[in-house]
Amino acid sequence: MSISSKARFISFEGIDGCGKSTQAKLILEKLNKKGCKTILVREPGGTRISESIREILLTKGMDELQDRTESLLMTASRAQLTDEVIIPNLDIGNWVIADRYADSTLAYQGGGRNLDLDWLIKLNDFATAELHPNLTFIVDVLPEEGFRRRHSSEPDRIEKAGLELQKKVRKMYLGLAKRFPERIMIVDGHETIEDIHRIIWQEIKRRFFH
Ligand code: ADP
Ligand code: TYD
Repeated sequence: MSISSKARFISFEGIDGCGKSTQAKLILEKLNKKGCKTILVREPGGTRISESIREILLTKGMDELQDRTESLLMTASRAQLTDEVIIPNLDIGNWVIADRYADSTLAYQGGGRNLDLDWLIKLNDFATAELHPNLTFIVDVLPEEGFRRRHSSEPDRIEKAGLELQKKVRKMYLGLAKRFPERIMIVDGHETIEDIHRIIWQEIKRRFFH
């Protein structure tokens, strides 16, 4: 297998506790092992400014945070990450793996909070300078399973909103996969970590390596 020279941008999405961070890390390690210099970023966060915004977004007790404010802060964090980290890395030929990106705003603030999807798409375009991932994996699990998998960690402000929110978020993710079938692939997150990794790596190889 020869190494494709072109750097790619791949995002991982899904409801809370679906297992996407586990898969993002495995792909980071795999790509680096294959000789593709790769970085991993997470949202909201990933830069000094974005991590400060994350504090506001996820701190428990910030109950007065309005849904529109939430979406503006999510996308503000994304704008900073995109300009400061993602674009410069792609420009020098590094692969970028994102643990959440623009689809999270459509799923959580659109699906979960019922904000207008067209507005959110415009907001995302502004925040990302219309940069889209080359490929997005949605790790799909039932909300009950996501809830079980993160039972040990303290819930943050959004996780505290509970199962009903996660159901709406999942529904929107499935809708997004239908709307953008070229970019988005759904993988069954109920499989084992190793099997899911194998499926994801096969798809990356199929698309980007010859
Ligand atoms: P997320 O980033 O989606 O919140 P994580 O990758 O952090 O999820 O995984 C949440 C928990 O579930 C972790 O303890 C992880 O080890 C476990 N986990 C991840 N993938 C699977 C899987 N396919 N089957 C069972 N447990 C898993
Ligand atoms: P995090 O602890 O990173 O959770 P996870 O491991 O599930 O990614 O928390 C991020 C939370 O923020 C998660 O509940 C999803 C939410 N979120 C949004 O609501 N909108 C967004 O645009 C992003 C990026 C995240």
